Amino acid sequence: MSKIIPVPLFDFVIFGATGDLTLRKLLPALYYRFRDGQIPAGSRIIGVARSQLDPAAYRARAAEALRQHVSAAALEGPAQAAFLGIVHYVPLDAAAPDGDWSGLQDLLHADRIRVFYLATSPELYGPVCQALTCAGLTTGEARVVLEKPIGRDLASAEAINDEVGRHFSEACTFRIDHFLGKETVQNLLSLRFANTIFERLWTADVIDHVQITVSETVGVEGRGGYYDHSGALRDMLQNHMLQLVCLLAMEPPVSLEADAVRDEKLKVLRTLRPMAPHEVPLLTVRGQYSAGAVDGKPVEGYLRDLNGSNSMADPSTTETFVALKAELNSRRWAGVPFYLRTGKRLPQKLSEIVVQFRSLPFSIFPSDQAELSPNKLIIRLQPEEGMRLEVMTKEPGPGGLQLRPTGLDISFEKTFGARYPDAYERLLMDTVRGNSTLFMRRDEVEAAWRWVEPVMDAWAARPERPRPYSAGTWGPSASIALIERDGRTWHEDQA
Ligand code: BG6
Repeated sequence: MSKIIPVPLFDFVIFGATGDLTLRKLLPALYYRFRDGQIPAGSRIIGVARSQLDPAAYRARAAEALRQHVSAAALEGPAQAAFLGIVHYVPLDAAAPDGDWSGLQDLLHADRIRVFYLATSPELYGPVCQALTCAGLTTGEARVVLEKPIGRDLASAEAINDEVGRHFSEACTFRIDHFLGKETVQNLLSLRFANTIFERLWTADVIDHVQITVSETVGVEGRGGYYDHSGALRDMLQNHMLQLVCLLAMEPPVSLEADAVRDEKLKVLRTLRPMAPHEVPLLTVRGQYSAGAVDGKPVEGYLRDLNGSNSMADPSTTETFVALKAELNSRRWAGVPFYLRTGKRLPQKLSEIVVQFRSLPFSIFPSDQAELSPNKLIIRLQPEEGMRLEVMTKEPGPGGLQLRPTGLDISFEKTFGARYPDAYERLLMDTVRGNSTLFMRRDEVEAAWRWVEPVMDAWAARPERPRPYSAGTWGPSASIALIERDGRTWHEDQA
């Protein structure tokens, strides 16, 4: 386990403190950092929400959230009570023009770092930042953290970025994409730039194509209100998946300094070849799950999961699955497609990158003994984080030179044996430290929307509904056709 370096003293203010994200992710992440001694004594976590709760009632909610989302072993000992002791609460409608900010003003210390985490809907980012300025709280050491999605298209993202930018400089604005905080995602940087062997092979001359799958078994889980206005393209692909493409495809940055890394990621987003409207039906697939079975249990379809917030006469056309083929206009990646797919209610929770190398141009092995498979580097982000390089090997024993693909495996869990910190743990501490390397810069977010927007527009212009797929399958069959048209297959199809 690496050494834990304490961060400076801070006040961490969470707007949306009674919401799902705060209870499920933010408080547990802060708890783990506190328990491990990274949060200095005297720092405070201040929940802000509209509910009229007193601090004790909020602490009780926080304690319940920890019970649900932190392992029992990690809650043993005195850390839990001490952590709850640094949790405070202020009831406040932060977006209301006449909100009473005095409770928060009284609590905040002038001489320390303050982080304002907006775990609210994006429409409130501008008004809350405006109110923070009016309340005199945006001091020099103040940072704001914005959850994704930033807007729902380019224009709304620009408007939000403009509004927030009137109150916080770019250096103090942290746009979070929690995938960038995952250990294995950060490992993409070390894989590529701390080793000599892969970087030399990381070109169109050697790589045939790349696949990225981010599949989930869950449905919309009570988030239907948000999800139905978003869909898989906005919720996962515009941010998480394009960030993975950036880390895989970018040129080596000159350093790990935030802007050096983000400049290179931006270049990748700018080299994504825009899709013309007539190409969208060929290069993308959108799906929506219908009833089926996941983990052996029957589950409802999406329209029923929306639970009344959907009219059966005019059913939702929101996609819960998207697959697409992206291409990059660059010397390094010309002719190397990136196939991306993500969806809810798929058979497995899995985030995986497959880099498939080119086939051998010529084989000296007799074809009846050896069907040569191309080499593949499989990077597993979750679960069972690790990497596997598939190489051809000879089967032991007599019978000629019988070859088969075998894996050189690295399991991070077996190698490092430690608990994997949740992505939010790293990222929240980075906001306090003021390190924005793993956060999205304004121009990145906008470039990602710019590329995704023609897809959204072309879908909106076409009358047909998303293709149905049974819950528990790998999405509509059109997703298989998308890649098979190019003579390739999704990785699991080859198992
Ligand atoms: C979030 C999406 O950003 O990421 C969710 O809004 C999704 O819909 C989640 O479930 C997946 O994150 P993870 O870390 O569980 O892979």
